[in-house]
Amino acid sequence: MKSSDEHRRATAAQARRSTAAAFDAMRAHYAQALTPALRAEALQRWDTHAPRLLAAWEALYPSVSGADRPQTNAPTAQETLAAFVHAMAEATNARSAALRALDAAREREPSWFLDQRIVGYTAYVDRFGGDLRGVAERVPYLQRLGVRYLHLLPFLAAREGDNDGGFAVRDYDTVAPALGENADLEALTARLRAAGISLCADLVLNHTADDHAWALAARRGDPRYREYFHIFPDRRLPDAYESHLCQIFPQTAPGNFTEVPALGWVWTTFYGYQWDLNWANAEVFAHMALTLLRLANRGIEAFRLDSTAFLWKRLGTDCMNQPEAHTILQALRAVAAIAAPGVLLKAEAIVPARQLPPYFGLPSEANANAQAEAVAECHLAYHSSLMAAAWVGLAEGRGDVVADVIRATPPLPPGCGWLTYLRCHDDIGWNVLREEAAGGDGRAAYDLARIAGFYAGETPDSFARGRRFQCAGDDRAHGSNGMAAALVGIAEAQARGDAAALRMAEARLRLLYGIVFACAGLPSLYMGDEIALGNDEAYTDDPLRADEGRWLHRPAMPWPLAEAAEAVAAGDTHERRRATAPQAEDVSALGIAQRVGRALRAMIAARMATPALRGDAPMRVLTLGDPALLGIVRDERFVALCNLSGREVAVDAPAALTDSRWRSMLDEGMHEHGRICEFPARLPAYALLWLLRDSSA
Ligand code: GLC
Repeated sequence: MKSSDEHRRATAAQARRSTAAAFDAMRAHYAQALTPALRAEALQRWDTHAPRLLAAWEALYPSVSGADRPQTNAPTAQETLAAFVHAMAEATNARSAALRALDAAREREPSWFLDQRIVGYTAYVDRFGGDLRGVAERVPYLQRLGVRYLHLLPFLAAREGDNDGGFAVRDYDTVAPALGENADLEALTARLRAAGISLCADLVLNHTADDHAWALAARRGDPRYREYFHIFPDRRLPDAYESHLCQIFPQTAPGNFTEVPALGWVWTTFYGYQWDLNWANAEVFAHMALTLLRLANRGIEAFRLDSTAFLWKRLGTDCMNQPEAHTILQALRAVAAIAAPGVLLKAEAIVPARQLPPYFGLPSEANANAQAEAVAECHLAYHSSLMAAAWVGLAEGRGDVVADVIRATPPLPPGCGWLTYLRCHDDIGWNVLREEAAGGDGRAAYDLARIAGFYAGETPDSFARGRRFQCAGDDRAHGSNGMAAALVGIAEAQARGDAAALRMAEARLRLLYGIVFACAGLPSLYMGDEIALGNDEAYTDDPLRADEGRWLHRPAMPWPLAEAAEAVAAGDTHERRRATAPQAEDVSALGIAQRVGRALRAMIAARMATPALRGDAPMRVLTLGDPALLGIVRDERFVALCNLSGREVAVDAPAALTDSRWRSMLDEGMHEHGRICEFPARLPAYALLWLLRDSSA
């Protein structure tokens, strides 16, 4: 009789043999469905990446015997895999020559998106261009701004009525009728590609709309489709889960489950009409992965993987960042690497930075010492701790808050980067900074509830005109809404016609973007920030949006203003000759837009010209004596100096810096590299300096 050790060894050997046999069978299956002309190249990619896909598949969907399977009319996981591999081959065949050329270029230069000349821009299709054709017409504007990566918020067919700004998708294969047709999407991606701009689209992975065909089938009682979601007959399990879960929208959508008549309790992490998908079902994986490939074949170059933290549920946990969620992402990465290798994956996981390494395939914090091998996962992830810290720093007049977050930012593997940003379509979520806010280790604490009040204009020292988001009861610091221009004080100063206050407010906006653009990563602008666009107070007039405070910072682009401002700000020689330079005393929307636009464009131009600002160039912080200050060093050649306070502060810098000569790179809206200068001894209120070590001396 075998000992249990022998038994284990024999079982493991058998598993390896059968896995190897299954690998061979799947390879043959893939090869057979490939167009002969593509076969050699495609199989090379398969051989490199399929082992990761198949290992992930086996871990997620271990082959279970028929008796263990739920009684549905669904295929087994193995049958699903075989059909999926076949469909992957078809997607490989369907990829256009232009996209295949792009794939090859990206494979040759996998860190292409971290080039310092790549700047992002985020917008809603309707708010920016009316529809997809309208966006295409604005491509020259984006080019002049320096944009090379465009994230368009969800534009696929969404549910009727309220749909969370398109994040409740009814049909992943069809463009929302109000925004155009699939042909418009393909025309747009081709136009963007020709302009050197990569289109990023949301892939809403965690949930579908409650009127998606799968949800409708589940409602009709089809057992196969019930298994696509998490549906419970009564409150027993939901209650057990709920006691460990957090609340995303505690005011507008409390709880994580929704009762659906004749169906039961459906897991709905976000709104009740967004049904969480059951990723433990192999069919869900197969469908979503193929959706990704179909969209990639329409020319989408990057996917913002929405709400990735929530993909896997485990009783007794907060059901966030579970190991299986990473296995799913690794499998998706392998799928993309096989059939659409030019594609980038960006994790939207709004969690503290220390929890993000696994989204890049690194071991989790808890397993940091484990010798686990890194498995490719996402290329990009939002650095929301940095974003929130910049806003905390401004409210508190403290650069050290940002410095601490930069210091604690985990190093990334090659070919990976942060998405750095100041604002986006969501609230500024304060929860990512809970641990930092508690202070300790020599760091002063801060009160996130006060900061949420500050940005809502509730504190006496506030210049901000935002609002709290979902803050209630014990949770006084959930999030804050508002356009950057309203949060930095531009709206308030303009309303008072106070030119001096306006200059300060504009300096704050420039300062915060100066941090975003100086840090490692791919920096992204939020639509309208380049013209200091303010809040959309009118959203409350629309009954469908009135209860959703995030619409405050989703205004439509006022094109006449943007175009008039650009004529000065862009420095376009033709228009510039006609235009007058913006006057410092001008408190009109146009004057503000011109000055802010000029400052941001100068910053983009300076970044583009500075290889030390590559997204993956080394970064460290400088200690400058006063906690109000922040110093960011890139590649030991570039220094960003920031004063986050409203007072002038003395700079106490190391001799290695003060002894060098520097070239000023941003001289109040100057496009060219500026003068040679000394390292400054003092920084005025809200000052931002970008200095490059001068090697000519
Ligand atoms: C993401 C989106 C957010 C949306 C949520 C649910 O967090 O950024 O806007 O509400 O997912 O889809």
